[in-house]
Amino acid sequence: MTRASIHPDLQALSFLLGTWAGSGLGEYPTIDDFAYEETATYSHIGKPFVAYGQKTKREGTGEPLHSETGYFRPAGGSRLELVLAQPSGILELHSGEIHGQSIELTTTTVVTTPTAKEVTTVQRSLSVDGDSMRYRVLMGAVGQPHQLHLTALLSRIA
Ligand code: HEM
Repeated sequence: MTRASIHPDLQALSFLLGTWAGSGLGEYPTIDDFAYEETATYSHIGKPFVAYGQKTKREGTGEPLHSETGYFRPAGGSRLELVLAQPSGILELHSGEIHGQSIELTTTTVVTTPTAKEVTTVQRSLSVDGDSMRYRVLMGAVGQPHQLHLTALLSRIA
């Protein structure tokens, strides 16, 4: 986090701000289940967006896995947008809602580079209770129907 005053439009998202760490479980019909560790940061610079980034590694071996970076954009009232890029060639554009300290986002558009895996839908649910964050990610990908890919529990560490 920076020392800039929080933009008034970000008040409803201030529960996200900080550095978070914890672990998650991944699954999908086409792959082996996996366990991962994650560090995520949510920060602001006084403008009306939250900058977000996360990095993950495989539990046990420490092998780097997924990472992503993007911006949460308040869109008026309880509305929210997310623009998110992945090094695997996937770009997610989401629209959704803030309810208290929970967020529900669904993709309006998923764009993939020519060599990326096929992803057609992504849904992200996130909720914060004190210094605990839980999230779920569902996706429709590689010809499979929309279903669970990730669940995780993180703690605010800074
Ligand atoms: C915490 C975040 C994530 C982690 C740790 C993670 C991890 C993994 C792992 C370990 C695999 C198995 C094979 C491989 O290494 O490619 C995989 C497959 C995949 N993931 Fe994720 N993933 C994450 C988030 C996402 C997100 C956000 C998307 C899409 C929006 C996504 C899309 C896919 C796809 C399309 C596959 C390939 C499935 C297949 O080839 O059958 N992942 N992921």
